Amino acid sequence: MTIWNLGSINADFAYGVPRLPGPGETLAAGSLTRGLGGKGANLSVAAARAAARVVHVGAVGPDGRWAVERLLEYGVDTRHIAEVGEVTGHAVIAVDPDGENCILIWPGANVAIPEAARDAALAEARVGDRAVAQNETNGQAAWLGTAKRLGLSTAYVAAPFDPQAVGAVLEDVDLLILNEVEAAQLEAALGRRVSDLGVPDVLVTMGAAGVRWHGGGGAQDFVAPRVEAVDTTGAGDTFAGYVLAGLDRVMPMAQAIGQAQVAAALMVARPGTADAIPDLKEVQDARLGP
Ligand code: RIB
Repeated sequence: MTIWNLGSINADFAYGVPRLPGPGETLAAGSLTRGLGGKGANLSVAAARAAARVVHVGAVGPDGRWAVERLLEYGVDTRHIAEVGEVTGHAVIAVDPDGENCILIWPGANVAIPEAARDAALAEARVGDRAVAQNETNGQAAWLGTAKRLGLSTAYVAAPFDPQAVGAVLEDVDLLILNEVEAAQLEAALGRRVSDLGVPDVLVTMGAAGVRWHGGGGAQDFVAPRVEAVDTTGAGDTFAGYVLAGLDRVMPMAQAIGQAQVAAALMVARPGTADAIPDLKEVQDARLGP
């Protein structure tokens, strides 16, 4: 089947810094790397590297043709990426020596995705395909609502977190992925536990503490593989892409989570975002301890 991903495409400028900057602080970076990023593009690359058929739906400006080429090189179908009259999205990322980051994004073309691009993509989708979105684009609610009505299985990655954006898609979502901070914020905003949202499967990522799956009639915890983190940027996107690819290959949820945890662990041990995502062979060959 196919994974249809409405997602952002960014140019990532990643700066290695001695510590994350505070308010009013000017800090000199020790390194700069440039590459493909965006929560959407990272998810598409991860799912494609995990051997899924992935169609990315999004937008870039004329300055973003290189990013579309890069997605294509990773095996992502780019036919439904529109070129619009906005600059391509970009992200300024500070990464500290522990691999922690803070990210500033300029949405640009990511919030100018034409409705026609979404419609043209979903016109090709088939019952049983998967549709996914994150919160860096326009049109998420319409995308997931239409996909659901067409008989697709739907997933939402609630990042960057905005409780209103989650609330707008909740009733059309089969799988919700968020981190523990976002889960607590969502519970506070809605006055309900994430396990009581009416969403069949909810995955709460907890960094080095692992993942909790609410679904299948209960809650189940998954210990994270242990690695030395160099750069955690894009780890959540990698996890989400690998989970969706695993489910698409009819893996049980527990197995899809386990594989995705290994992919995310390998990814945080290297610098970079989309270009640091491991392929399926690396993940299958990895021997990581808990
Ligand atoms: O999740 C990491 C991503 O967030 C980066 O690639 C950056 O582009 C921002 O979208």
